[in-house]
Order: sequence, then C-alpha cells, then structure tokens
Amino acid sequence: MNELEGVEVSEAQIAVHWREEEKFYPPAQFIAQANITDHEIYERFSLKNFPECYKEYADLLTWYQYWHTTLDTSDAPCWKWFVGGKINASYNCVDRHLPQYKNKAAIIHVPEPEDEPHVVLTYQELYVRVNEVAALLRDFAGVRAGDRVTLHLPMVPELPITMLACARLGAIHSVVFGGFSGKACGERIADSGSRVLITMDGYYRSRKLLDHKSKSDTALAVAKEEGQAVDKVLVWRRHRGTYVSPAPMVAGRDYLMEDVLGDYVGTRVDPVPMPAEAPLFLMYTSGTTGRPKGCQHSTGGYLAYAAGTSKYVQDIHPEDVYWCMADIGWITGHSYIVYGPLALAATTVMYEGVPTCTDAGRPWRIAERLAVNTFHTAPTTIRMLRKAGPEEPGKYSYQFKHMTTVGEPIEPEIWRWYYYVVGKGTAVIVDTWWQTETGGFLCSTMPAIQPMKPGSAGPGVPGIYPVIFDEDGSEVEIGSGRAGNICIRNPWPGAFQTIWGDRERYVSTYYAKYCRDRNSVDWRDWPYFAGDAATQSEDGYFRILGRVDDVINVAGHRLGTKELESASLDVSEVAEAAVVPVTDEIKGRVPDVYVSLRPGVEPSEAIGNAVAKSIETSIGKIARPKHVYIVPDMPKTRSGKIMRRVLAAISNGRDIGDVTTLANPEIVDEIRRMVQG
Ligand code: WT7
Repeated sequence: MNELEGVEVSEAQIAVHWREEEKFYPPAQFIAQANITDHEIYERFSLKNFPECYKEYADLLTWYQYWHTTLDTSDAPCWKWFVGGKINASYNCVDRHLPQYKNKAAIIHVPEPEDEPHVVLTYQELYVRVNEVAALLRDFAGVRAGDRVTLHLPMVPELPITMLACARLGAIHSVVFGGFSGKACGERIADSGSRVLITMDGYYRSRKLLDHKSKSDTALAVAKEEGQAVDKVLVWRRHRGTYVSPAPMVAGRDYLMEDVLGDYVGTRVDPVPMPAEAPLFLMYTSGTTGRPKGCQHSTGGYLAYAAGTSKYVQDIHPEDVYWCMADIGWITGHSYIVYGPLALAATTVMYEGVPTCTDAGRPWRIAERLAVNTFHTAPTTIRMLRKAGPEEPGKYSYQFKHMTTVGEPIEPEIWRWYYYVVGKGTAVIVDTWWQTETGGFLCSTMPAIQPMKPGSAGPGVPGIYPVIFDEDGSEVEIGSGRAGNICIRNPWPGAFQTIWGDRERYVSTYYAKYCRDRNSVDWRDWPYFAGDAATQSEDGYFRILGRVDDVINVAGHRLGTKELESASLDVSEVAEAAVVPVTDEIKGRVPDVYVSLRPGVEPSEAIGNAVAKSIETSIGKIARPKHVYIVPDMPKTRSGKIMRRVLAAISNGRDIGDVTTLANPEIVDEIRRMVQG
C-alpha cells in the first residue's frame, strides 16, 4: 500500500519502476575536514554495544548530574533514556558556550525585505535575551517547569529566543507553524493545555507584511470551545514601536512583549536542572484520524540525539555557518536550526520569507554574503529554485561543503541539479529520512564515509537498525526489489516518548503492528512502525517510497486527508468529501478534493470556492487544494466505502484498474470525463 500507486498495485510492481543510480563519492576536501571519517563508528554503535553506545552523543552535552540507567524499558514502549540524569537544554545551547564563543554569532536572521539589515545575535546577546524572556515568562506570566506554552510565531529571532526561554524554565514549548490558521492553533492550545500563547503582530511573506495577530483571537475562541482558557497572550512586534495588525490588543489579556520586557532588562534566570526524561517540547503532526498528534520529545535524549546527528551527519563544527531553510515551526527547524546547531556552538542562519523573494538568486546572495558553508533544504524548494533560476547559483561565489535534502523523496534529476549546480560539484549531499516522531535522522549516508546514491536515503545512521517487514511481519529480503513497511528494530534517544495525553494512540499507531508480545519489556519485541513504504537494495541503502497511511506529503509537510475532508464537510452544502494526493511538479504532492452535495443542491463555483476557503481557514494555506471537483456521487464499494484509490488514479491520469465490483461502476467514467476532459 502506498500513496504513490494506490492500494491495489502490488508493492513489487512499484519497486520495479525505480532504477538504480550510479554512486557519487564524497569530495576529498570535504573528507579532509569532516568530524567523522572512520568506518569504525558503525562498530561503536553496533547492536552489541546498544544502548550504551549513545553515551557518545550524551557526552556532547553538559550535565548537572550523570544518569544511572542509559535505557529504561520497564514501561515499554515508552522508552526512557539517561534516567537519573539532570540537564537543561537552554544552558547547553547558550550558557556553556560563553567562555569560548560569547562574541561569535549564534543566530543570524535574514529578513525577507532585502533592504532590511540582518540581525546578528552573538552567544552573549542570545544569553541576555533568553534570560530576559525567561524572567518575563516566570514572573509575569507565571510559567513553571512542566507547564505548556504555545508559540505561534513566524521565522523571527524571537522564536528561538522564546523556545530557549521556555527550556530554561523547564516549561514545555509547543510551536505551531506560523502559516497554520487560528483554528489549527486553537486546537493545539486546547490539546496541550496551554494557558499562555505567544504570538506576533505580523511578518513578511512574498513581499507582503501579513497580519498574524488576528489569528490569536480565533485560536483563543477555538481553545475556549474545547474547554481551555488562555489567560495571557504575549505579542512580539515585527517592527519595534509600531503595531502592524488590525486586530485590537485585548486589555487584561494581550500584552506587548516590548512593554513588559522593560521590567526585566538585565535579569538573569538560573536554568532549571530537569530530569533527562522531562518533556522539552510538543510538536503536532498529522495522522490517519482527524486529530493532530502532539509528539512529546524528551530533554536529555532528544538533545543528545539532535547534537550527535548534527555533528556527524550534518558535520557541523563551531566555525561553520550553517543555513537550514526549513521553518522552525516544523521538526526540522527544531532539531536542525535551533537545538542541534546551537548545542554545537555553530552559527545558525534563519530566513524569514519565501526562497524566491524577490528572485531565484536570493538564496545564493544570502549564502555568498554570510559565507554559508553548510546548506539544508527540501526537494520542493530545490525544484522551485531550479525552475525559477536554473543558472542562478553559478552567478554567485558562495562555496558549500555540505548540503542536505529532507522531507520527501528527491528525483534523481533534481538531485543532480542540486549536486552539480547548487553544490558546484564540490559539496557532499546527505538525503536524510526521518519524521516528526523520531527527533532526528534515521537513514542517511555518513557524509565522509559512504558514497551518495541519488534518490536513495542510504543505510540506517549509526545506532539505527531499520528493517522492512511485509504485511505478515516477515522480513523483506535485502535486494529483492520488493517494497514493504520500513521499521526500526531498536529504540534511540531522539524518539518521541508518547503522544501527549494519548498513550493508547501512541502504542497502536507506532508499535502495535509488529509487536511480538504486548507484555514484553524487551525492546526487541517492539519494532517502531514508521508508516512509510521502502525498498532496500543490495548495497543496504533504503529508498523511501512514501506514506502508507492517509497522509499526504505536501512539499515535505504532512497533511492528514481526514483533516481536509472534515474541513470540506464544514461547508453545509457538502454531503461527502474525499481527498487524494495528486502529483505536482514543484510540491511533489498536493491534495485534490472530491465532494458530493446534499440532495437538491445544485453544483456551483461558489461551493467549490467555499470548500477551498474552509480548508484554508481550518488548516492553513499550505493545505490549499489543487482542484475541488463536485461530483454527482462518490465511487463506492458495496459496503459503502468511498474508493479513494479510484479517485487518486483519475486525478493522476493513471490506470484505474478493475472497478466492476463497485456498487456504482458507471460513476467512474463520468468522473473521469469531468476531470480529464
Ligand atoms: C515523512 C515525515 C523529517 C523532517 C521533515 C518531515 C517523508 C522525510 C524523507 C526523505 C523520502 C522522506 C516520509 C516521512 N520523508 N524525509 N529524505 N526521503 N521521504 O517530517 O512532517 O514528520 O514527515 O516525510 O514520508 O514519514 P514529517
């Protein structure tokens, strides 16, 4: 089963479409400076050294107190790492670097308007600002260790500052992607039980100063409906001294950070030593059912894993200028803009806006000006930049040593443009496969050790033991060309601990499928089910084919089809809705929406627009459908199940297969004529 081909195409058939690519060897100048060049790392992280091998990652951090138990499995499959250890994430990303690096850039923020100056925060300046915000959160907003705080912020320096301030107090941040709607934010506030929301008046995107604050009013109304009261809304301003949102500040509830911070100038807050297994943050992600899942990540295990993989897979050194183009509102930004690079005392660049603003040369100008040497982005962005400016990178004199691709499979043709044109043939590429749930990378080549293979993520990273199971739980043979469900045999420190408030869903979604014994406390009985289809070739490299559940990967972001369908059903004329992925040149996949109307309602353009609008307000612009088709009826099985597979085949112009067993086979041709003309 796989979204690329639909349920009734066999996995073996899918696999044969994939051609083996030639290998590319890491450039010598990269190897000469790499953090890890010795194959022996796989020996150190072998299963016979598991779990103690992960001490190597934990030792990259500074602990108040060492742990007594590396991996506690007694509450399987809720794994606890480094139990007995005490640590603070904010201290590790900021304070401890001061003696050596206080005057070095920690964060460089690049505003979207090109004439607005960059903001450079040295480690010292970051330290001062994190302390002041932590003091405000503690003394003004009453935030304590263990409290959840929702951050609905765009790509501004205040976002990592606020995250680190929460971490300093041991409070659990829940960052909601800035592009998400007020409603989506409100649902996450309610689910996490946040009493404090931190937002911003506005931000730049596509040359427009967008209003953002208005979303907080919707968010609070939605949260309240779900029984969660928010008592303080703290509002950053994009431009000091001017408030750019039309939404009024509500007296006694909304406060400008700028105003309140005046009381905390120069205040220092001792970092709170937290148990290693205390949650550091929640990150919501989409799943099979409508309700987003709050992935709960730990402090010690997560930070150790983010730091370890940043050092070895991202090859980050303190002297590197590292730019990851993701948004901090997704897991990539948490692990590989904020926590990993800052734990290693690197300089991390964050960019506010769209990559092609105001033209396709923008990223390369930024890279040249800041001397970025390590670059990280997603296939959708690479496709977009290639389309808009295939020759642009060559016009600038930046020099990358290392580049990352993440979020979805990358077509070999796009990979080669990334390698030859963006990387100028001298940068190594890592194709990193992982998920919100996993905290850090699962599959990737080690950049100085193994060759790259376009379109293929590579083997498990050190300490990660992937395996492909078929539906019955038998291992799919390496090199067989057959696809199956990729799983991880062993726990690892970056893995999420549970779904916030829903352990049952955590167990059933990720561990039940291949669990050998529900009562076992031996980790060997609990393989992690990732929800992706994959093949493994002779050389041990994994090729990820896509999701096996009802999730669409749009431009590297996960959208649950159920969430889109339920937003469509909010339009009163709509009787039924089905959402399927359709291939898109730039974004990889985008949603196509099929709706049927209530009896007596005439189809109209207005209804189609209302469906698109409802999806946008319920989730955000990223979920905007490619098409909304109003169909006379849905293709259904005799038991009344909507055949999404048939709709997906129509949307993608693929062979529909045998539909004679449907309850209403005649509808298929009618829909096909409507869609394909
Ligand atoms: C899903 C996870 C992990 C950060 C970004 C997305 C897909 C992720 C790759 C890759 C092929 C990939 C998988 C995965 N995916 N990286 N290198 N090659 N597919 O995080 O939103 O949790 O999505 O993204 O389908 O399950 P996410």
